[in-house]
Amino acid sequence: MTHTPIPFPEGFLWGASTAAHQIEGNNTNSDWWVKEHSTGTHIQEPSLDACDSYHRWRDDMDVLSELGFTDYRFSIEWARIEPAEGQFSRAELAHYRRMVEGALVRGLRPMVTLHHFTVPQWFEARGGWTAEGAVDLFARYVAACAPVIGEDVRHVCTINEPNMIAVMAGQAKAGDIGFPPAGLPTPDEETTHAVIAAHRAAVKEVKAINPEIQAGWTIANQVYQALPGAEDVAAAYRHPREDIFIEAARDDDWIGVQSYTRTEIGSEGPIPWPDDVERTLTQWEYYPAAVGHALRHTAKVLGNGDVPMIVTENGIATADDTRRVDYYKGALDAVAACLEDGLNIEGYLAWSALDNYEWGSYKPTFGLIAWDRETFVRTAKPSAVWLGGLGRTRELPRIDG
Ligand code: BGC
Repeated sequence: MTHTPIPFPEGFLWGASTAAHQIEGNNTNSDWWVKEHSTGTHIQEPSLDACDSYHRWRDDMDVLSELGFTDYRFSIEWARIEPAEGQFSRAELAHYRRMVEGALVRGLRPMVTLHHFTVPQWFEARGGWTAEGAVDLFARYVAACAPVIGEDVRHVCTINEPNMIAVMAGQAKAGDIGFPPAGLPTPDEETTHAVIAAHRAAVKEVKAINPEIQAGWTIANQVYQALPGAEDVAAAYRHPREDIFIEAARDDDWIGVQSYTRTEIGSEGPIPWPDDVERTLTQWEYYPAAVGHALRHTAKVLGNGDVPMIVTENGIATADDTRRVDYYKGALDAVAACLEDGLNIEGYLAWSALDNYEWGSYKPTFGLIAWDRETFVRTAKPSAVWLGGLGRTRELPRIDG
């Protein structure tokens, strides 16, 4: 059977994503920088210079636009913008405004994430998300971002993966600092409610800055799959880790769907992957179909069509770039099938533009673009040439079968 390619829907976002702390380097005022230099954590190495994108963002954007991408999702760093409580840096706001304008002149529409895992160390020290006044402090930071996002930015993500934030808070309470394993340990309920409140407050501030901005947040989707008879166990497991955050997007302009792999659930809970499945460099199962399941699940929770979905992260950590191409082929086939079935999908952004700091280690390479560890010179991988090039034909390929 031959499948014909599916044209991108009108206005479809086609791009790649990054997060400030993972690529900028020297984010010294953030909680993660402090964690990276503490003992007794699961962090293997510190981020240090990362990809030096704080200085080399122009190089990153040049490569992305030359490849054929039309959209770039990046985050701006609260720890730089508000280095001390209540003190805002005009120079850092101007820096991020230059990035917005730099994207536009290169033909890249910027999607700006206001918060991607890191907080200023002063915010962490006063108790983080669950401390009194935390939501108001976040809202004040968001309001201060007006010079960056006030004009020309159509999509703003308030908080990246609030469900991972709640899971990491749960882990930290148990004395375990680091990035959580797939499948996800128990989230901290208080943090869940705090970040949902923070999202609502942030959406209000964003709309006050410019009501035209499309505001949303992005959820880590674990693609929990119930084995026969374990549907109720899976639903109960999934709700605090995923659905509660998807439900909180009901009144938003869009929702970000982020997925990488799947987790099977049996009657006792998550089932470890069998020894014979292909693993990626994060040790997750190689499962390109994940994104299709994640989209269908999100649509089901929200009521298909009511809230447009954007795939804001999807990708694979591998040293074998041919596996990356295969992964993206499988993933895009699944996205195309969802579009054929009428799901409301407004864009696809790959994770990640660059090999980057994967929250504790540089080893899992998710990037479409490699960079030299000495000179920081960027080189697009073959997967980037292929994926970016689809931005020219503006068609999603199908896998023949
Ligand atoms: C995060 C990224 C991370 C990626 C791969 C998502 O959880 O938003 O920061 O690098 O997945 O683990």
